[in-house]
Amino acid sequence: MKLWDFKAIVYRFWRRFFPINLIWQAEQKAARELFERDNQATQRVLNVGCGVGDNLPLTSNFVVQVDLSQQMLQQVRQKQSSANQRTLLVQADATSLPFRSQTFDILLCIGVTEYISDQISLLKEFQRVLVPEGGMLITISHRHPLNYLRLLLGHQLHLLPEEKFSRLLQSFNFRLIASRRTLIQQQFWTKKIDK
Ligand SMILES: C[S@@+](CC[C@H](N)C(=O)[O-])C[C@H]1O[C@@H](n2cnc3c(N)ncnc32)[C@H](O)[C@@H]1O
Repeated sequence: MKLWDFKAIVYRFWRRFFPINLIWQAEQKAARELFERDNQATQRVLNVGCGVGDNLPLTSNFVVQVDLSQQMLQQVRQKQSSANQRTLLVQADATSLPFRSQTFDILLCIGVTEYISDQISLLKEFQRVLVPEGGMLITISHRHPLNYLRLLLGHQLHLLPEEKFSRLLQSFNFRLIASRRTLIQQQFWTKKIDK
């Protein structure tokens, strides 16, 4: 069984336990505050690396949910029927998305970049699928002792300093609107510059 398919089985439960629940709730609150900065009432949203769908409450719009893991998507399917939300589930790699250019108004990528070694391809792809002035909420795992602990526990993470990732965002023509730091995440709310 693939790693993320295996993790999908425990994912539903582990965010309920202390102190994971507190860390997760703080991240969710910070992400919501960034996401709600602009009015996103009628927009096409892409959620990359959607996991088990814990980010579903962030938006009430039509959402395309992408994940590498079929098992993760399976759990989103169950959740979305109870949340009464319209979503399309797509199994794909974040660095090679099966969508036409300039398809989405909003892109969410929460808790994913740290698991991807090729962040250049990732940002190139996000730049491609977003419309000009499209909004992107993206997070990284920063260099906090807890993230080093996660590394020691066997998570294959790519930890980045905030400044380096900010520069990377700029080099792909993303304008930084706001940023939030939580215990183990740095969250960026950006807009794709219309060139
Ligand atoms: C830590 S979980 C985060 C899930 C969700 N975004 C959240 O915040 O609850 C990371 C997710 O990214 C997915 N993932 C990892 N690498 C990926 C890739 N290259 N392309 C698409 N999804 C990926 C995993 O399957 C997993 O569901």
